[in-house]
Amino acid sequence: MAEENLLNFASKFLAEARRVVVLTGAGVSAESGVPTFRGKDGLWKRFRAEELATPEAFSRNPRLVWEWYDWRRQIIARAKPNPAHQVIAEMEKYYPEFLLITQNVDGLHLKAGSRRIVEIHGNLWRLRCDRCGRKIENYEVPLKEIPPRCPCGSLYRPDVVWFGEPIPADRFEAAWCAARSCDLMLVAGTSAVVQPAASLPVMAKSHGARIVEVNLEPTPITGIADVSLFGRAGEILPKLWEKVKPKSA
Ligand code: OAD
Ligand code: ZN
Repeated sequence: MAEENLLNFASKFLAEARRVVVLTGAGVSAESGVPTFRGKDGLWKRFRAEELATPEAFSRNPRLVWEWYDWRRQIIARAKPNPAHQVIAEMEKYYPEFLLITQNVDGLHLKAGSRRIVEIHGNLWRLRCDRCGRKIENYEVPLKEIPPRCPCGSLYRPDVVWFGEPIPADRFEAAWCAARSCDLMLVAGTSAVVQPAASLPVMAKSHGARIVEVNLEPTPITGIADVSLFGRAGEILPKLWEKVKPKSA
């Protein structure tokens, strides 16, 4: 089907929806200059996740883990939200029920103004003590002290979810409930291979929601999507929203 027709289908679905969930992944920040994880230039092509993004890696070599996060924080500190983030932030004002579920830890959705949001994998601008659990916001780039230390004497870690760790229950519960009760889920810029996030669209679909996907290429979600729009999120989402947003706004 021609791209314009697919856009029209998707915009009709968005216009009819009242309870909307948007699920995003690294692809949404790609056009802001933040590297994604998989794909040709993905972080997991250049780095080994087991050495950098697991609790074992952190106990073994907290300095190495923090150097990697400090490097990512430097890239992200220079990044600005792109039109995909901006459109998603605008969408939440329009729907009576809305939740943005993001797997991204870069904080760019918050920077774009999203407030009805759950960052299921955490946020790398937040630090958490690995002993007393104290949490602080920290925007220091580069970090003066690596690894950073909590006043209790133990080490801070990035407050993100690593491989082998569960998503904190309150966050996952919020995401799961929204997925179960939405009438439309927009899935953008995620390879949809990391669980349990990848199950959210499947859950939504099985409860009757329509699924609209935006990605550069087909993913495991494409098979259950009512419409898949292939292209850059920062280009497609503004085109789509232009057709849906209230004309008086
Ligand atoms: P991935 O890197 O796995 O996937 C990024 C997806 O975005 C791919 O499907 C790309 O095709 C697509 N993409 C890239 N650029 C795009 C663009 N400009 N517009 C639209 N789509 C684009 O990232 P995630 O799915 O977010 O977890 O990965 C999920 C989790 O795996 C991450 O949260 C992270 C990682 O390991 C943890 O750190 C726990
Ligand atoms: Zn502490």
